[in-house]
Amino acid sequence: MEQYRQVFANNREWVAAKLNEDPNYFDELAKGQTPNFLYIGCADSRVPANEIMGLAPGDIFVHRNIANLVVNTDLNAQSVIEYAVVHLKVKHIIVCGHYGCGGVKGAMQPQDLGILNGWLREIRDVYRIHKKELDQIEDEEKRYRRLIELNVIEQCTNVLKIASVQKMYKKTGYPYVHGWVFDLHNGYLVDLNVDHDAVLHQIEEVYNLTV
Ligand code: CO
Repeated sequence: MEQYRQVFANNREWVAAKLNEDPNYFDELAKGQTPNFLYIGCADSRVPANEIMGLAPGDIFVHRNIANLVVNTDLNAQSVIEYAVVHLKVKHIIVCGHYGCGGVKGAMQPQDLGILNGWLREIRDVYRIHKKELDQIEDEEKRYRRLIELNVIEQCTNVLKIASVQKMYKKTGYPYVHGWVFDLHNGYLVDLNVDHDAVLHQIEEVYNLTV
């Protein structure tokens, strides 16, 4: 219970520090949000979006789940993306994975993981799609890292399959989709340089929903 109680003491200290910097801080915060970023990341406790990006409350609309997946039938993720794109008009959508991801590790094991099976199946599908490349990597740790990257790239592709994303991009040139990996060992964000236009072009024959 000690750490639990400590949270409220921490909160009061944080409020005092914010008010010390700017007596109107919370009045401004309460007025509304106009974030430029939608961040889709892993639920892992070691990857806090605002902290690693050095941004403040109000700067990032955040969605997190196990292994940063964008699943077509996930009403939660789809609603977050729709709201961020259509209503908040975010300029950038970031899918951020991380090396050492337990979800991706779980999907690499031939094991029944109960209720998690359906979720992790999405990552097994990523493996199947990129099996040829992955099977050529002999070192298991390197293969694991590459699957984490490929999973991010596939989830970026899934974002680009969404009608509202395609339509808004066609109309305004935004949102732009990015794929990153956070490296727990050194704290750096790695930009996978996902080519938004190339990916969109690559999938548009089958997934174009703008007409
Ligand atoms: Co993870």
